[in-house]
Amino acid sequence: MDVSLAVVGATGAVGELIRQVLAERGFRPRTIKFLASEKSAGKTVTFLGQEHPVEPIRAEAFAGVKIVLSSTPSSVSKEYAPIAAKAGAIVVDNSSAWRMDPDCPLVVPEVNGAELHHAKKGIVANPNCVAIPLTVALKPLHDLGRVKRVIVSTYQSSSGKGAKGLADFDTQLKAFAVGGPVPAPTAHRAQLAGNIITLDWTLDPNGYTEEENKVVNETRKILGLPDLAVSPTCVRVPVRVAHCESVNVEFERPVSVEEARAALAQAPGVVLMDETRGEFPQPIQAEGHDHTFVGRVRRDPGCAHALNLWVVADNLRKGAATNAVQCAEELIRRGIVK
Ligand SMILES: NC(=O)c1ccc[n+]([C@@H]2O[C@H](COP(=O)([O-])OP(=O)(O)OC[C@H]3O[C@@H](n4cnc5c(N)ncnc54)[C@H](OP(=O)(O)O)[C@@H]3O)[C@@H](O)[C@H]2O)c1
Repeated sequence: MDVSLAVVGATGAVGELIRQVLAERGFRPRTIKFLASEKSAGKTVTFLGQEHPVEPIRAEAFAGVKIVLSSTPSSVSKEYAPIAAKAGAIVVDNSSAWRMDPDCPLVVPEVNGAELHHAKKGIVANPNCVAIPLTVALKPLHDLGRVKRVIVSTYQSSSGKGAKGLADFDTQLKAFAVGGPVPAPTAHRAQLAGNIITLDWTLDPNGYTEEENKVVNETRKILGLPDLAVSPTCVRVPVRVAHCESVNVEFERPVSVEEARAALAQAPGVVLMDETRGEFPQPIQAEGHDHTFVGRVRRDPGCAHALNLWVVADNLRKGAATNAVQCAEELIRRGIVK
């Protein structure tokens, strides 16, 4: 395709998956370049079996680039996304820097792909790795019975903290497995091996973590429901990859389990699992896949118009890399990037 692409943050956990997902989906740009920090200058990354140099990020690197897939810390994105956009690129950004900016659409292609037409700043925000699968599962249910309230409790994997999170967890796990002293955490806020952490994110003044506030605000923005009641609890669990979500959905009108299952079975991006056949979504099965796995759909015994479900997706793929690549594909398919 006649598009020049830059992958920014190419050496990170999400950047690595972006390279993989581009290759798997047959996304073949005319030119591609890989950028990261000064620290990575001189390194190479592999794309389609070839070694490519990693360039340090700088303004000149964006000349002639049409699409930027960016996965850096927010501070880097705040500085460089406008520079890339000014150079004529559309930036699909994985950080949280632009997600709540009213001039930047927050896009999950299966849910609100048309929003891509409204990237006034040349920046499209890729949502948080909990909000993406949550909205993929909620959209078909909202179309059925109008969602009124969502209570979501998450079981989030170590890789949500990037390459450093995984390295921290792997080191801890090795020591834990042999009963040795577990080294002090370096990326997670506490020991994760054999433990769960409810405060693995910065605490905001409202008593919720930054992650929990993202889930509330981003779910509302993606679904276009600014007043939707969302009640979140985010928890880090000792799993390497894929986030799980226990979701309680209350509707404006009664929605039966059968109706919900039929809608989910048809929904783009969803794999509905059948517990009567012993199937249930699991992180180790979701890892490496691009779908949002949904199961355990059941009536809430304490609320007439509510259902419970269990949602699982690979946070590095559908929760980040795959969703960003899908946005890039949609930008081209819709003629926004020519
Ligand atoms: N992990 C997830 O599940 C997930 C999901 C959704 C969104 N996100 C978001 O995606 C972004 C990347 O996350 P990650 O998990 O991939 O993090 P990561 O593994 O720590 O990777 C960060 C990347 O950013 C680059 N970078 C850091 N500082 C830079 C600078 N000053 N200039 C240029 N590049 C710089 C790093 O390059 P060097 O190697 O050269 O330092 C690396 O390539 C974050 O904003 C994160 O919040 C992550």
